Amino acid sequence: MAERITIRKPDDWHLHVRDGAMLRAALPFTAANFGRAIIMPNLLPPVLTVKEAIAYRDRVVAALPEGSTFQPLMTCYLTDATDPDDVETGFREGVFTAVKMYPANATTNSAYGVTDFQRIRQVLARMEKIGMTFLIHGEEADPEIDVFDREAVFIERRLTPMLKDFPGLRIVLEHVSSREGVDFVRAHAPQLGGTITPYHLMLTRTDWLGYGNRPYMYCMPVIKRREDRDALRKAATQGESNFFLGTDSAPHPVTKKLATVGAAGLFNSPVAIESYAQVFAEENALDKLEAFASLNGPKHYRLPPNAESITLEKTVWTAPEEVKVNGPEERALIHRGGEQIQWKVVA
Ligand code: DOR
Ligand code: ZN
Repeated sequence: MAERITIRKPDDWHLHVRDGAMLRAALPFTAANFGRAIIMPNLLPPVLTVKEAIAYRDRVVAALPEGSTFQPLMTCYLTDATDPDDVETGFREGVFTAVKMYPANATTNSAYGVTDFQRIRQVLARMEKIGMTFLIHGEEADPEIDVFDREAVFIERRLTPMLKDFPGLRIVLEHVSSREGVDFVRAHAPQLGGTITPYHLMLTRTDWLGYGNRPYMYCMPVIKRREDRDALRKAATQGESNFFLGTDSAPHPVTKKLATVGAAGLFNSPVAIESYAQVFAEENALDKLEAFASLNGPKHYRLPPNAESITLEKTVWTAPEEVKVNGPEERALIHRGGEQIQWKVVA
């Protein structure tokens, strides 16, 4: 009998599903295995208002396979001009689950992001008051800062004072990518949680750049050293309750990934829960997978875990290489596409 594990249905606490044809191509992979997902607001133009979030949520729901019970959790894209009243209205009406902060120009579609941290203080104070979660792309985009140090410098310059100034504000440092990030999140539990992607758990910058440049491993925050990956693997698999699953699955058309200035982001939702299972199995920690994938996130967000469950089996299958997006011309390549995947969702 093949090895099997049944866990509560997981949630994805960090997901890009885009819009239009890409949304229709990408969303079914997440809806198949996850109960809920935090939907990132970095569309062009971004999701700034309650009205825009309702309209986007409607488009997401319309793109779901028939009969799906998947629930999208919407976020508000924070700018220097975001109105605290609009944020509160969206939260009270059950439209916004969280607010997302991109430092301006730190990553894909972040041009409208925050340029002046003084100007968001009123929004943060309001979120602290109403108990709304704050999601952070934690990288300092200052061109003086080395791209591999962006997370550590953001923590020192921005996150440390923020935690002190708003001690009641619940925060998620998203896609933790460095040993410094792991240590910092651990030291600030339970106020601070951290999501971890499957690819930051599996890859090193040597995989990305050491044997030819592999543009499909380019993402923000960039993949770091082996030491960083190993710290992330420990954090995820030891059962620490403030680390949880967030794939940061971020599809782009092939042409954008392979352009002279390539787009950041790995489209990993087709192999996400299977890749996490592989990491946990490699670390002899399959018994901790459910906490990381299905329990710690809801606890941080003060939501109940999903009632349903999924079963994974140790069975080898080959991941599809790509999805067609808009006819044969537009495609998105899948992370680990063509590779043998060790675990499979069977129920
Ligand atoms: O690699 C990334 N891709 N990092 C982000 O922060 C954004 C994302 C995207 O939207 O493509
Ligand atoms: Zn992201």
